[in-house]
Amino acid sequence: MIKGNLLYEGKAKTVFETDNPNELLVYFKDDATAGNGAKHDIIEGKGIINNKISEYFFKQLKDRGIKSHFIEKIGEREMLVKKLDMIKLEVVVRNIVAGSLVKRLGLEEGTPLTVPVVEYYYKSDELGDPMLNRYHIMALDLAKIDELNQMEHVAFSINTILREILKAKNVDLIDFKLEFGRFDGEVILADEISPDNCRFWDIVTHEKLDKDRFRQDLGGVKEAYKEMLDRLTM
Ligand code: ADP
Ligand code: TMP
Repeated sequence: MIKGNLLYEGKAKTVFETDNPNELLVYFKDDATAGNGAKHDIIEGKGIINNKISEYFFKQLKDRGIKSHFIEKIGEREMLVKKLDMIKLEVVVRNIVAGSLVKRLGLEEGTPLTVPVVEYYYKSDELGDPMLNRYHIMALDLAKIDELNQMEHVAFSINTILREILKAKNVDLIDFKLEFGRFDGEVILADEISPDNCRFWDIVTHEKLDKDRFRQDLGGVKEAYKEMLDRLTM
């Protein structure tokens, strides 16, 4: 595999072309941002940990029949993936109230939701990722109805699988964000699954083991990411 031109520099990852037109190289950076880039810092080693945690989850999901863009981890910070036609949506699944839901619904952080909730956000830095419903998505032609149904079904399946895996590691899955893309006429899971885009709490102490430690200036960000990696892989 030959690393080619830079395709996209994101906030947490950089994407490169390869000598195979159907494959991309994703490089995990140490940059942490919040508030659409308003808050920025470097968490040394975060990229290495997120690459490992994402590899772990993509492999676990594959074993349980969930297809993703993941091909293989090819370096400390580098992952080889299928090049997808990305759907400009963030698919969020929530089990327990946290983050933006606290303000939106006036509920206390930590309140369990009686059913898992799915939300869609328009992936647009200029607009600040506004929340969308199914009709907005269809009106903007971001995805077809059957693609949307497929993404929702897969997102809920992933929720069930991840909750089970994490429970065995004494971790509650509070919520998470997924991205999907098209490949060969199919919609498949993309991007990453890590403490950057999930909320993980210790089941007993409710200690936060995710990016909220950075967002809320709680300290111990790298230690929390490392703790998640150790619980998952040791
Ligand atoms: P952001 O774009 O929010 O700053 P990142 O820093 O994580 O996010 O950048 C990674 C970019 O790569 C994202 O825009 C994501 O949608 C895109 N991406 C993830 N997986 C794939 C893939 N398999 N094919 C093409 N693009 C992808
Ligand atoms: P929220 O409570 O801020 O809406 O976030 C819900 C989940 O989505 C949480 O696990 C963090 C994740 N997320 C991202 O990965 N990227 C984002 O841009 C946002 C807003 C949330």
